[in-house]
Amino acid sequence: MCDHSPHDHHTDFGFIVDVPEIRALIEETQRLTTAMSSHAERVKALRPAFSRLLATDGWLPDAFAQPDRTSAMGGGIGQYALYRASDGSLCLFSLVVPAGASTPVHDHLAWGLVGVYRGVQQDTTYDRLDDGSDAGRADLRVASQQVVSRGGFYTLLPPEGDIHYVSTVSDTPSVSIHLLANDTACVWRHRFDPDAGTVAAFRSGYSNVKCAATPDLGP
Ligand SMILES: [Fe+2]
Repeated sequence: MCDHSPHDHHTDFGFIVDVPEIRALIEETQRLTTAMSSHAERVKALRPAFSRLLATDGWLPDAFAQPDRTSAMGGGIGQYALYRASDGSLCLFSLVVPAGASTPVHDHLAWGLVGVYRGVQQDTTYDRLDDGSDAGRADLRVASQQVVSRGGFYTLLPPEGDIHYVSTVSDTPSVSIHLLANDTACVWRHRFDPDAGTVAAFRSGYSNVKCAATPDLGP
């Protein structure tokens, strides 16, 4: 059992927050990963278990629901690993976005589910119009905007809906819960500047665990 202090951790993998509610979701994800080869079918089958976690109070320690003023992502955004598979195949984390702050426009490069646990977020997704042949350029167009409140969630099935940003539109920080089929904060992915039409390698990092050092500067 973790001591629930995110900055004084001893476990970098496995159940960093070891509570029955998280174990239930991870075990259901592992069961469905074995049982289903289709990402779309698996994500659909996970909806009840994910919805249950979002609807349940009391399992997220307060320390994992705080902004992080030292955030590598900027804006005081906290990203706290709750569970990390040691093989990089799955993670669960909380994302804390202070009132009025926004994430960079980014991608995830993995299937998953993202839902709001506290506060209210606005989710803006983009379509990518170019073919990706220029590593530094990306032509994006807003595809959708939605306001997501407690219990609301959406799914990620790359490339569909994989490029987005979220903003907190409540007066209090928003806390969202992310279940993704990679080690999201430690893999090299992309951040985009839609106005400039540029894209760059991006590794957000967690607020509570360190990513392994890597000479890889990203895709
Ligand atoms: Fe995201």
